[in-house]
Amino acid sequence: VGDLTAADLKGRKVFVRADLNVPLDENRNITDDTRIRAAVPTIKHLISNGAKVILSSHLGRPKGVTPKFSLNPIVPRLSELLGIKVEKADDCIGPEVAKLVNALPEGGVLLLENVRFYKEEEKNDPEFAKKLAALADLYVNDAFGTAHRAHASTEGVTKFLKPSVAGFLLQKELDYLVGAVSTPKRPFAAIVGGSKVSSKIGVIESLLEKCDILLLGGGMIFTFYKAQGFSVGSSLVENDKLELASSLLAKAKAKGVSLLLPTDVVIADKFAADAASKVVPASEIPDGWMGLDVGPDSVKTFSDALDTTKTIIWNGPMGVFEFDKFAVGTESIAKKLAELSGKGVTTIIGGGDSVAAVEKVGVADAMSHISTGGGASLELLEGKELPGVVALDEAVAVAV
Ligand code: 3PG
Repeated sequence: VGDLTAADLKGRKVFVRADLNVPLDENRNITDDTRIRAAVPTIKHLISNGAKVILSSHLGRPKGVTPKFSLNPIVPRLSELLGIKVEKADDCIGPEVAKLVNALPEGGVLLLENVRFYKEEEKNDPEFAKKLAALADLYVNDAFGTAHRAHASTEGVTKFLKPSVAGFLLQKELDYLVGAVSTPKRPFAAIVGGSKVSSKIGVIESLLEKCDILLLGGGMIFTFYKAQGFSVGSSLVENDKLELASSLLAKAKAKGVSLLLPTDVVIADKFAADAASKVVPASEIPDGWMGLDVGPDSVKTFSDALDTTKTIIWNGPMGVFEFDKFAVGTESIAKKLAELSGKGVTTIIGGGDSVAAVEKVGVADAMSHISTGGGASLELLEGKELPGVVALDEAVAVAV
């Protein structure tokens, strides 16, 4: 069984690895429940088919048992979303947990304690994986956000628990981030932003093989400008990546990809929310000033280019959107994507800061897909295989 919908579930104990690693405030209140909501369809399917659901996740990066990283704060919200009382175990392996599992009714859900309370989890220790596996009859991986980690609960456990299948969230993420990106409806545009070229080299190189239009924004553009001989003032530049930037520009040209850099930038006299600012052509950044956002002409050029497309993937903000004054470029692109989504363009937001930007603008619901993974979506967009996916029974079929 490679497919959750085809699995025989009634009365069976199903170990579900989800990514419930949500942000909490200092009082341990959930500040963004997106990942919990994203885990619900798979769990509801299991409940309505009479499975006994053993739910596992990590939270944060604890070193040993740390109450601050307990999954207890997840229980009320998850119970509310599922419409049932979710049981909670104080551990994730051992006889007490086994007792709670055995007491689960059909359609019941038991949330295990943070699996990273054991260092064996991140070490992918086979004995630990075996203990997790011993709790259940079937394994479902729905933890897309953690699928790039070869940990005991994401990878090791599949060696001891068959069948091992993908949950609905993991499948949907693969459909969009692999399927829609590999065989896109064309023209296909990729928008890549973020502060550093170095963290996006793999993504740019991989997308250059697939896209028709590549729009670059964010702090990384100044390395490209400097490589072209522009004065960049005190903007962020990775001097050891100048040659690389030139070679990426050359590669785009050779491949016939239309690569657009912003033509104007919003510059600031310091890196601060209340900095003095003005708009200048990209090639004319004065000494002592730094670029913190793309300018209005660039937004117009980018929007016109996006108007011609049928598929868009976006990873990384256009500027320092945490500062309102320098958020306009990022917000304009978010709004543009929302508008195009309404016209039938496939719009994919590939994780991390661009997701936060889309949420800040309030257009998240308009997008075709918003990834729940940061590191995992980046690795997929770089064309890498994810250990948590490779470990499943069959190569997971990807479709859109
Ligand atoms: C994430 O938030 O990106 C995932 O939950 C993975 O967490 P990690 O980076 O601590 O492995």
